[in-house]
Amino acid sequence: MYDNKITVIFKYLTQLKQTISLENKFHILINMAKELIEVDRCTIWRYDATTEELVAKFAHGIDDKLRVPISEGIVGHSFCTKRTIILEDVHACNHFDTHIDCITGYETKNIISIPIINSKNEVMGVFQALNKQSQNHKFHEDDIKLLDLVVLYVGEVFESTILYENLEEKVAQEIQKNKQKDELLYEQAKNAALGDMIGNIAHQWRQPLSAISLMASSIELEKEMGILNVEELPKKMKSIIHQSQYLSNTINTFRDFVKNEKVYKEVDIIDEIHQAIQIIKTVLDDCNIALYKNIDENLKINLNMVSGELQQVIINIVNNARDILIEQNIENPWIKIYLEKKSDNLIISIEDNGGGAPEHIKSRIFEPYFTTKHQSQGTGLGLHICYRIVTESLHGKIYLNNTLNGANFIIELPLENNLV
Ligand SMILES: Nc1ncnc2c1ncn2[C@@H]1O[C@H](COP(=O)(O)OP(=O)(O)O)[C@@H](O)[C@H]1O
Ligand SMILES: [Mg+2]
Repeated sequence: MYDNKITVIFKYLTQLKQTISLENKFHILINMAKELIEVDRCTIWRYDATTEELVAKFAHGIDDKLRVPISEGIVGHSFCTKRTIILEDVHACNHFDTHIDCITGYETKNIISIPIINSKNEVMGVFQALNKQSQNHKFHEDDIKLLDLVVLYVGEVFESTILYENLEEKVAQEIQKNKQKDELLYEQAKNAALGDMIGNIAHQWRQPLSAISLMASSIELEKEMGILNVEELPKKMKSIIHQSQYLSNTINTFRDFVKNEKVYKEVDIIDEIHQAIQIIKTVLDDCNIALYKNIDENLKINLNMVSGELQQVIINIVNNARDILIEQNIENPWIKIYLEKKSDNLIISIEDNGGGAPEHIKSRIFEPYFTTKHQSQGTGLGLHICYRIVTESLHGKIYLNNTLNGANFIIELPLENNLV
C-alpha cells in the first residue's frame, strides 16, 4: 500500500515541479489529495480579511467562488480554532452547516478540515477533503498524515501567491507613479516652452506697439496744436489698422501653444515653418543674427498633426542656437533652416555657426533637465519637449549632427503615416 502512495506522491510532486503557474500548482495539490486519501472532492479555502470570509478558491465540483463567514460551518470552525477537524458523520455535528450543500446540491457525508498555516504561524485558509470513497467510507489515521503533507505544500504555494500579488501591486503602483511623474514633466516642459514663447512674442510686439502708440499720440498732439493734416489721416489710420492686424495674427499663432487638448488636423508644413520664423525673426534681427532659409516653396505637403507643435520644436532649436551664438560671441552669426524631401521622409535641418555641442554632452541634450546654462538661463527642458513632440506626436526622429560650423539639428518626419 505504501508503495502505491509513494508512487502517487512522486507523480504529483513531479507535476508540481514542472509548472511555474501558481494556479496550476493549487489544482495539482487538490488532485494529489483526492487521489492520496481516496476522497470524492477537495476544496482550498482562502481567508479574505476585508470581508472576514473564507472563499473557495480551488475546488472539485464547484465553479462559482463560494463564500462562508469565518463564524460559520466546519470550515469556519477549523479556521478560528486552528485545528484539524475530522467528522465521520457530518450530521452528528452541530457545527456542520447544511447551507453550503444546499447551494452546491452536493451531499456531504464526512469531512477532514485542516487549517493552512504560514511560516509566521498565521492561518491563511482551510483545506477540506469530502466524502471518503474507500475503506467503508471511514477516514484512516494515515489519511491525516498524508493530508498534512499536502497542506504543507499548499501553505507554501499560498505564501508565494501572496508575495506575487504584493509584488504585482507594487509594480502597478510604481507604473502609476512613473506615469504621473512623466505627465508632470511634460507639463513643466510645456510651461518652460511657453515662457520662451512669451519672451519671443513680447519682443515681436514691442516694435508694432510702439509704432501704433507713436502714430496715435502724434495725431493727438497735432490736433491740440491745430496742425493736424486731415488729408494724411487715412494713411496713418491704415497703418495703425495694419499693425493691429499683424498683432492679432500673432495672437492666433500663440493660441495654438496654450491649447491643452491635442487636436490632430491637416497642417501645411511650409505654413508651420513660416509661422515659427515669423515669431523668432524679430529677436534674431535684434541680435543681428542672419536667418537663411532654403525651403522648397513648391513642396505642398500637408501632415496630420497638432497645429503649433512643430513650430514649438523649431522655435526651441532656434532659441538654443541664438543662445550659443550670443554666448560664444560669434562674428557674423547665422542660422539656416532647410526643408527637403528625401524618399519617404521630410527633413528639416536647423544649423548654426556657434561651434556645436561638445561630443561628451551630445548624447544627453535631449534628457529632461539637462542644461549647460546657468540656472536662471536654462531649464534643460526645451530639447526634451522637442524630442517628445517629434517622436511621440509626429512619429519621427530628431538628432544632432555637429558640422564644421556648429550644431545641426535634424528632424526626420515620415510621410507614410502622417500624410493626409
Ligand atoms: N545649437 C546648439 N549648440 C550647442 N549646444 C546646444 C545647442 N542647442 C542645445 N545645446 C545644448 O543642449 C542643452 C540643452 O538644451 P535645452 O534642452 O534646450 O535646455 P536649455 O536651453 O534650457 O539649456 C543646452 O544647455 C546646450 O548645452
Ligand atoms: Mg533651450
